[in-house]
Amino acid sequence: MARGQPSFVCQSCGAVAPKWSGRCDACGGWNTIVEEAAAIPSGAARSRGKGRPFALEDLKTTDELPPRRTTGIAEFDRVCGGGLVPGSALLIGGDPGVGKSTLILQALASHALQGGHAVYISGEEAMAQVRMRAARMGLAQSPVALGSATNVEDVLSTLESGPTPSIVAIDSIQTIWTSALDAAPGTIAQVRTASFDLVRYAKASGATLLLVGHVTKDGQIAGPKAVEHLVDAVLYFEGERGHHFRILRAVKNRFGPTDEIGVFEMTGQGLMEVSNPSALLLGDRSGTAPGTAVFAGLEGTRPLLVEIQALVAPTGYGTPRRAVVGWDSGRLSMLLAVLEARAGLAMGSHDVYLNVAGGLKVSEPAADVATATALISAFSGTPLPADWVCFGEVSLTGGVRPAPQAELRLKEAAKLGFRAAVVPDGTAADAAGLELKMVRNVTDLVQLAGGRSATRRGRIESDG
Ligand code: TYD
Ligand code: MG
Repeated sequence: MARGQPSFVCQSCGAVAPKWSGRCDACGGWNTIVEEAAAIPSGAARSRGKGRPFALEDLKTTDELPPRRTTGIAEFDRVCGGGLVPGSALLIGGDPGVGKSTLILQALASHALQGGHAVYISGEEAMAQVRMRAARMGLAQSPVALGSATNVEDVLSTLESGPTPSIVAIDSIQTIWTSALDAAPGTIAQVRTASFDLVRYAKASGATLLLVGHVTKDGQIAGPKAVEHLVDAVLYFEGERGHHFRILRAVKNRFGPTDEIGVFEMTGQGLMEVSNPSALLLGDRSGTAPGTAVFAGLEGTRPLLVEIQALVAPTGYGTPRRAVVGWDSGRLSMLLAVLEARAGLAMGSHDVYLNVAGGLKVSEPAADVATATALISAFSGTPLPADWVCFGEVSLTGGVRPAPQAELRLKEAAKLGFRAAVVPDGTAADAAGLELKMVRNVTDLVQLAGGRSATRRGRIESDG
C-alpha cells in the first residue's frame, strides 16, 4: 500500500477494502467499514527512527517458577495444564448457553473458598442474576468479589485500587468497551483494544485473567481470531444441545498440553465433574442390537470409551442418504468406499446413519475400525459381543494400521469389564487380560464382525 493512504477495515470481520462502502463484501455486514490510520510504509519509503539498545539475556533462569493457582475443579485445572499460571491470560470460548458463565463462577467460587482472591466482573448479567445463579448452585457463601461493569477503564481502576486478585474473570469480552474508541462494543476494534489492556494488566500485576468469549456464527471467537493471539491459552467449552455432557478442550496453551479435555455434566446445581467419562458414556448400553461397536479412544492423556452406532437400511427411493452425528462425513464416505472396494461390501443402495453416543465428537483416525465394525454389524444384522472394544485406523488400501497408545486403551477397556479387543495386527501392547483379535485388513474385519452373511450379502448385491 502506498505511503500515507488510509485503509478501510471492516470492524466485524477484519477485511481490508480499498475504499469505503456501506456493506462489507467479505462478511456482508452493513456500516461496519471504518477508515483506519494509514498503514506504516515499509522498506525505503520509511526512514528508521533512533531506538535505544537493550541488553539481551540468557535463556536459563534462576528464578523459581511461581506455583500454579488451582481452582480445585480438577477437570478445569488439568485442561489448563495443572492449574493457572500467575500473570497469564486465558480465553474461554463457546456457544451462547453452553455454560461458560456457570463454569467460570464455579471455578472462581472454588478458588475463593481455598483462600484465593477471586474477582468476577459480569458485563452481561446484573448482580442479582449472578447471585441467584450462585445461590442455586450452593455457592452463595463463597467470598467471590462480584462486579457488574462494561467499561474497561472502570474495570482496571477498580482492580488497581484494591489488592491484586489472584484470578479475575471478565464475562464476556464482547460486552467490554474502551472510551478511547468510538466503535460500538463487540466490534473487533473494541474487543481487541479492551482485551489488550486487560492482558497488560494481568502481565503487570500477576493476576490470572479469564476472558469469556462467545463464538460467532462462523465458529470464531469475536470475529477473525482477534483475541486468540493476545492470550496464553484458548479453551473451548463445547457440548451438544439436548445432551448433558460438556467438554472443555484446550486449543492453544503456552503452559501445557493442548490435547487435554475436561468432561462435565450439566445438572440442576451447575456443572459436575465427570472423572470417569467412559463409565458414564457406556452406562445405558444394552449391546445386543446389531450395529454398535465400542471405540477405545484417547482424548489427550486420557482413554475414553464411546459407543459408535450405525444403521444401514435399504434406500426407499432416490439417492441413498448418509447422515452422521459426531463423526466426519467425509471419513464415513471413505470407509464405505474401502469396504466396498476391498471387502466387497456394497452399501451403495442403502441409507447409512452413523451416531457417536452421548453427543461426543470423535476426530481420531483410530476410530475407523470401530466405525467399520459397527457398519459391518449393522449391514449383516449380526450383533457384536457386548464385551468387545475396537481401535485402529483403516487405510485406503483396506489395511488396518496401528493406533498410538494401545496399552492405555486396553487397560481402560479391561477396567470397565471388556473381555476382548479388535486391534490392528502386530499390536504388541500388554493386553491387560483382554483377548486380542488381530485384524490385518477390512476383509478380516468383515469375517470377524459380520460372519459369512455379510460377505454373502455383499457379493449378491455387487453381482446384481
Ligand atoms: P450459562 O453459563 O449462562 O451459559 P453461557 O455463559 O455459556 O452463555 O449457562 C446457561 C445454561 O445452563 C442454561 O441454558 C441453563 C443451564 N444451567 C443448568 O442447567 N443448571 C444450572 O445450575 C445452571 C446455572 C445453568
Ligand atoms: Mg454467560
